[in-house]
Amino acid sequence: MRTWHMKKIMLICITVFLSTTLFAQEIKGLKDYYASYFPVGVAVSLRSLSGPDAQLIVQQFNSITPENDMKMGPIHPEENRYNWARADSIVNFAQRHGMKVRGHCLCWHEQTPGWLFKDAAGNTVTKEVLLQRLKDHITTVVNRYKGKVYAWDVVNEAVADDSSHIYRNSLWYQICGEDFIAKAFEYAHAADPNAVLFYNDYNTERPQKTERVYQLLKKLVDAKVPVMGVGLQAHWSIYEPTEKELRSTIEKLSSLGLKIQFTELDISVYPWEKNRRAKQADDNDAFTPEREQQQLEQYKKVFSIFREYKNVITGVTCWGISDRNTWLDEYPVAGRKNYPMLFDRNGQPKKAFNAVVSF
Ligand code: GLA
Repeated sequence: MRTWHMKKIMLICITVFLSTTLFAQEIKGLKDYYASYFPVGVAVSLRSLSGPDAQLIVQQFNSITPENDMKMGPIHPEENRYNWARADSIVNFAQRHGMKVRGHCLCWHEQTPGWLFKDAAGNTVTKEVLLQRLKDHITTVVNRYKGKVYAWDVVNEAVADDSSHIYRNSLWYQICGEDFIAKAFEYAHAADPNAVLFYNDYNTERPQKTERVYQLLKKLVDAKVPVMGVGLQAHWSIYEPTEKELRSTIEKLSSLGLKIQFTELDISVYPWEKNRRAKQADDNDAFTPEREQQQLEQYKKVFSIFREYKNVITGVTCWGISDRNTWLDEYPVAGRKNYPMLFDRNGQPKKAFNAVVSF
């Protein structure tokens, strides 16, 4: 009788042990592999927070960024009306699952609401009015998510693409000059002194753009503006950045005492230059074994560099969940399929995923 009892207990123990280990293996996600490096995040829409996408999000990531729902146009469509529902749901989802939230973004030249730059008569507003509107917007939004959003992209893409000047000639710049940048950081810091505040931009590893972003940030840091980090969007491709470009960008920008986050990572299988021209009839948009291999190598390379610089890198966020849905399917060549993520169209890990987690 006693032996029978012992056997039964042992059997139960073995079953529990095996099932918990297997289960643990099954759910090990990017966030777990990178637990001692940095949080790994994902950009989400409300739609992705239910069904299989939601499962993948919770399994793989420990930080989320609303892809669109905190941008000025969607969240503040009229001067006296805010649209909180979507952003609130995303923040609640993160709280339920113990995830961090990166707020994105407080001041950008795109996806702005129609009323922002105009007065009631339809004339362009003055600098004073625009800064007051910026202040009201930032104060209200940052306040609402205080303690729930740990980091904000305060200013997005204020640097010009053209290397002859630093600042983008946006309406913000035309009306306020460069002052709107420092002001945006001051307003955000006043609203939540604990939030980590980022300047965020793209193509930052191209040497001339690295230099312009550096110049802008140096000016802010020297003037003691509360900028604490730089977000490098990382909309990359299998062709760029090179190892040298990536390393020198991290070293140059972190030398200003700023933390670095890769905020919108995806790796297109097309060169950026090709992206710029119209789709041609002979374009082959299949995920060929060659592209798969090149992408695997690019992902492997950039993640190994991220790990190396873990002292200055405080987050890496993927700009989407899987190849089923990516903004790169539409941009800049409408209708061309792209495969930039670590999960395939069925939400299964790609070979690149294995390369990123095998170290
Ligand atoms: C920029 C913005 C993002 C997003 C992408 C395109 O990088 O920062 O919010 O709009 O463009 O998806």
